[in-house]
Amino acid sequence: MSDEAILTILKTVNYPGFSRDLVSFGLVQKAEMKGSTAQVILELSSSDQTLPKTIQKEVEEALLAAPAIDKAEVMIRVKKSASPQNSQSNQESENLSGVKRIIAVASGKGGVGKSTLSVNLACALARMKNLSGEPLKIGLMDCDLYGPSVPLLIGASGRPELVGENTLAPVESYGVKTISMGLLIDEESPVVWRGPMIMKTIQQFAHNVVWGDLDYLLIDLPPGTGDAQLSLAQILPLDGVVVVTTPQKAAVDVARRGARMFEKVNVPILGVVENMSYLLDEESGRKNHIFGQGGGATTAHALKCPFLGEIPLHEEVRLGGDHGTPVVIANPDNPSSKEMTEVARKLTELLPGD
Ligand SMILES: Nc1ncnc2c1ncn2[C@@H]1O[C@H](COP(=O)(O)OP(=O)(O)OP(=O)(O)O)[C@@H](O)[C@H]1O
Ligand SMILES: [Mg+2]
Repeated sequence: MSDEAILTILKTVNYPGFSRDLVSFGLVQKAEMKGSTAQVILELSSSDQTLPKTIQKEVEEALLAAPAIDKAEVMIRVKKSASPQNSQSNQESENLSGVKRIIAVASGKGGVGKSTLSVNLACALARMKNLSGEPLKIGLMDCDLYGPSVPLLIGASGRPELVGENTLAPVESYGVKTISMGLLIDEESPVVWRGPMIMKTIQQFAHNVVWGDLDYLLIDLPPGTGDAQLSLAQILPLDGVVVVTTPQKAAVDVARRGARMFEKVNVPILGVVENMSYLLDEESGRKNHIFGQGGGATTAHALKCPFLGEIPLHEEVRLGGDHGTPVVIANPDNPSSKEMTEVARKLTELLPGD
């Protein structure tokens, strides 16, 4: 049996809870046949203590099911994650050591307003003050590598400057330090991403960007439960995830599935935000629930987490994004701005920076 054949077997083993296999995530360090013994070394970084055992068992079973393999020697190396508590003394992990809290914004479904919410939450937080009266220091990492929308939404332009040998300075907009693939590549040059490349890029966003001292680093994710979500949970010490959904009952299952993935990798769900909840008749104050009702509350109930707020649908939200001036900056009194600011405030309560 060839070494290649072992890889083919490893490709049938999915990372627990995901539909992606161990090989495509780049976890395999060694896969060799010695006589009739298969020797495999895998490397992962996770705080979940049970994960190495689960993976080891599944890999062993898959290998031993092959007639040509009599013995399977499977070793799992666990890398330390780059959390500030156990950071190494090198420059790379120092870049995250001043970051107090890391919060991801996620959804199972596309187009529900994750990026809009990430950008507005970041700007709303940047307008808040800490106990000493200084503005909160905020960063925003755009992990949507295929469709980076953060730079347009927050009006960030220009290339991140190279600092030192291979570290980048984030681009600042409305006081928010931003990094995005959109700031690094031309719109016309589409990139075909493979699992390991996504992992590597997100690693670089985390470790090769000079974030400095931050009270909160927000992370905008692409929709779904794919490579970016798993990579992120592997690389960054996430403090929690905010799940965005829409009012439709049909959105509940997708949101729940998306959130479960984070539970599996031990990232707490901080709460659910329902976006595009209603159209407000500003004269009468009446709420028109044009997309139905209950999606957010039902999702929060199902996930046993707080329901953080309902953001109304408002033209100024979209216009703010189109013009690169987030609505919480363009018009803090807009009803959607007020709701998003309230969500930001709740997040500071759930995860105090001090
Ligand atoms: N509350 C709102 N009121 C009006 N328009 C909104 C609101 N929230 C989002 N939008 C608009 O909906 C569209 C989709 O929003 P956005 O790009 O933030 O979604 P997304 O979840 O990040 O999408 P993707 O899954 O593609 O990353 C944008 O045009 C945005 O301006
Ligand atoms: Mg988006």
